[in-house]
Amino acid sequence: MSASVHARGVRKSYGLVEVLHGIDLEVAAGEVVCLLGPSGSGKSTFLRCVNHLESINGGELEVAGELVGYRRDGDKLRELTDRETAATRSRIGMVFQHFHLFPHLTALGNIMEAPVRVLKRPKQDVRRDAMALLDRVGLADRCDAYPSQLSGGQQQRIAIARALAMSPQLMLFDEPTSALDPELVGDVLDVMRGLAKDGMTMLVVTHEIGFAREVADRVVFMDAGLVVESGPPRQVLDEPREARTKEFLAKVL
Ligand SMILES: Nc1ncnc2c1ncn2[C@@H]1O[C@H](COP(=O)(O)OP(=O)(O)OP(=O)(O)O)[C@@H](O)[C@H]1O
Ligand SMILES: [Mg+2]
Repeated sequence: MSASVHARGVRKSYGLVEVLHGIDLEVAAGEVVCLLGPSGSGKSTFLRCVNHLESINGGELEVAGELVGYRRDGDKLRELTDRETAATRSRIGMVFQHFHLFPHLTALGNIMEAPVRVLKRPKQDVRRDAMALLDRVGLADRCDAYPSQLSGGQQQRIAIARALAMSPQLMLFDEPTSALDPELVGDVLDVMRGLAKDGMTMLVVTHEIGFAREVADRVVFMDAGLVVESGPPRQVLDEPREARTKEFLAKVL
């Protein structure tokens, strides 16, 4: 299977401070990779580089065989404009810790927005697909609710449906359940589990070790801007090789 995400030597600096020191990471099509690591290790920064919400300062990053945010010019990479990146980015769904729904749109409106505005698809078709997505995340009966009328877990499920409405080839999740009350976490993880089962390619930053153990094909542990180790969940979570992984797991388990 071709790699869906192919990161080689990805470096990222903010000003003079380098926070990603050369990340190598692959996610195959259909694979679920969970990214773990201490606060400040660069997990969110890396995810943001994958869909070019951040530019990179070294290395290269491809999604589904295409550079994201750059084009090759001889042996150099030239950064594309936002407009030029939009098509590639629209194939990458992203779900954040804080849901970032449009407050003035209903659940249905949130899901329909991008397919109508960006893809210019007919409203009627988009509505039909959006209703199917609402059903998939268990919220068909809340289609007319505004974000403020929904629980955090419901808002997050709408955010997932909104991302799916663009038919992404890859879904990025950045601690999607970290802001939720414990009793709301399960419904969101269930939706993610379903997606994984349906073969979606997923890169998930999470502190939910149970989810990683059960759903991930591979777990990647990052620390201080580098991948420390990666492998099948059992190996990384139960028999970590590196001291830093052991130390981290001792704290979170
Ligand atoms: N916009 C920014 N400007 C300057 N420094 C930043 C910026 N964003 C992140 N950083 C720094 O980059 C490093 C990595 O941050 P990042 O948010 O990627 O970590 P993380 O692994 O996602 O942490 P957490 O688990 O707390 O979410 C940190 O030292 C952070 O302070
Ligand atoms: Mg983060």
